Amino acid sequence: MSSSILCSNAALRNAWYAVARSIDVAAAPKSVTLLGTKVVLYRAGAGVVAAPDRCPHREAPLSAGHIGSDGCLVCPYHGWAFGDGGHCVRVPSTADSVPPPPRAHLTTFAAQEKYGLVWLCVGTPVGNPPVIPNEDDPAYRRINTPVDVWQCSATRMADNFLDITHFPFVHLGTFGRSQDTVVPKLQLEELDNGWYGYKYDVRAANSPLGTLVSGQAGEIVERSMSSGFHLPFDVRSTIAYHTGLQHILLLLSAPIDDVTSYFTFVVWRNDDFSMSAEEIIRFDLAIGAEDKRMLEQLDGVLPLDKTTLVNAQADKASVEWRRRLHESMSAG
Ligand code: FES
Ligand SMILES: [Fe+2]
Repeated sequence: MSSSILCSNAALRNAWYAVARSIDVAAAPKSVTLLGTKVVLYRAGAGVVAAPDRCPHREAPLSAGHIGSDGCLVCPYHGWAFGDGGHCVRVPSTADSVPPPPRAHLTTFAAQEKYGLVWLCVGTPVGNPPVIPNEDDPAYRRINTPVDVWQCSATRMADNFLDITHFPFVHLGTFGRSQDTVVPKLQLEELDNGWYGYKYDVRAANSPLGTLVSGQAGEIVERSMSSGFHLPFDVRSTIAYHTGLQHILLLLSAPIDDVTSYFTFVVWRNDDFSMSAEEIIRFDLAIGAEDKRMLEQLDGVLPLDKTTLVNAQADKASVEWRRRLHESMSAG
């Protein structure tokens, strides 16, 4: 584990992060890194097992192994096999009648699956992954997107996803062109299900790609939106059109280390399901690429103290998120 601002922080280590799609943990072990800790993920029994990516025998990377015909994870070095719960079930060099040494069992990390994603905690879990109530509503469909790696701190990503003032500058290629740069006074409030943030109305350019997503014609589209956060780095953005169509985005950033992060987003939508998932997320992927291009130019961890950065009125949500993050990181 590298020592750094984020990786060594207990509160951050005790939180849940989306590190892979469920479908990416299948026929082969998957290697991920969270807060500087290398983890192997594999499917066994009823769920996903997460363990240090280091065999207890001679420290070979277990993610370089394979899943045997009995469903166990087999180490590439001497073939020790691990099953449900990280239990060592076989040491090939030892007769079957001799049980594996007690310390051969993998010490596991907490892992769970939610919203088509594998959520991981490399500490002692405190709290839960964020709640998206639409997941249980059959009027909505869920669309997952691949987990990408951004050369950027998760602190800067969450800050960006809460910020609407960059739209007319960063998102010129998608929806930002005709948007007013002046942001009305924001009022922070409890949204729902533990989300905290603000609501606002936006007039956005209805670009050809955006027309598909908004389901309406015309040059300008009006959207009622909300942006909210769930500590440490989860951001939810909801978009409602006057037609009743809702488009909900869950933007998830997970620190690989201080300045590298996983990013994935999930979409929920109550449309008539006629458009393909690929078409729907094409617009959001293009928007995400614009954010990535900007954010990868920013160095280091976002300063979390009160004085380093200068804020405008429209940064209210970011300021409050940073205050709460800083407070949670300082506690304990
Ligand atoms: S290092 Fe894994 S079995 Fe020897
Ligand atoms: Fe953006």
